[in-house]
Amino acid sequence: LPRAVIFDLDGVVVDTAHLHFMAWQRLAQRIGIHIDTGFNEQLKGVSRQGSLLRILASGGKTGSFTQAECDAMAAEKNADYVGLLAGLTTTDILPGMGELLHTLHEQGVLTGLASVSQNAPRVLRALGLEQAFNYVADTRRITHSKPHPEIFLNVCEALNISPQHAVGIEDAQAGIDALRAGGIFAIGIGATLEGANYRLASTEGLSWAVIRQQWLRHHADI
Ligand code: G6P
Ligand code: MG
Repeated sequence: LPRAVIFDLDGVVVDTAHLHFMAWQRLAQRIGIHIDTGFNEQLKGVSRQGSLLRILASGGKTGSFTQAECDAMAAEKNADYVGLLAGLTTTDILPGMGELLHTLHEQGVLTGLASVSQNAPRVLRALGLEQAFNYVADTRRITHSKPHPEIFLNVCEALNISPQHAVGIEDAQAGIDALRAGGIFAIGIGATLEGANYRLASTEGLSWAVIRQQWLRHHADI
């Protein structure tokens, strides 16, 4: 059985993915770029600067702004996003995730958080989840964004387990790719994800029983 479960934050533990999108959409619109929810799939799990570069590229504006202007736009998006976070409450914890964390602790399964968001500590505090994980990755120490596996491998190392003994839960294609690259069993939340070992439409159906079942099925097959 898995010895650790590693969670992404936005779109897995908490319903913030649409707030990131809203803030990016407003910024993009101001500079004359239209982005839709389909394109947003390419922003999930991608760092703030990386997301801005993708938006500029999608609007044919790569290289149209100075670094200082890009920094200002990233700061503008973040200020907007932080404002949106002010309304966050425990009701924004996604269905089943509080229970899952609780069960994992009861079962002695380690828990980790692998979010590249610099706002992760703020979000955890708003939800009263600061103590909910055995280890929370520190984005300042991560140099490669997902789909690079660095952040997940960093969590495995901190929890002192090997990647083959971990399960990762992700709502981003970049996150699923990062898990697979790291050799970690990947559970995807979302209909369009490719390459996950197991996929669900939402967190609602996710529990320790389901994780265990899928893990056993997979390890019986190989
Ligand atoms: C997560 C989200 C992305 C976001 C990134 C950086 O990966 O899925 O949408 O761009 O974190 O978040 P930050 O709060 O640092 O801007
Ligand atoms: Mg996410």
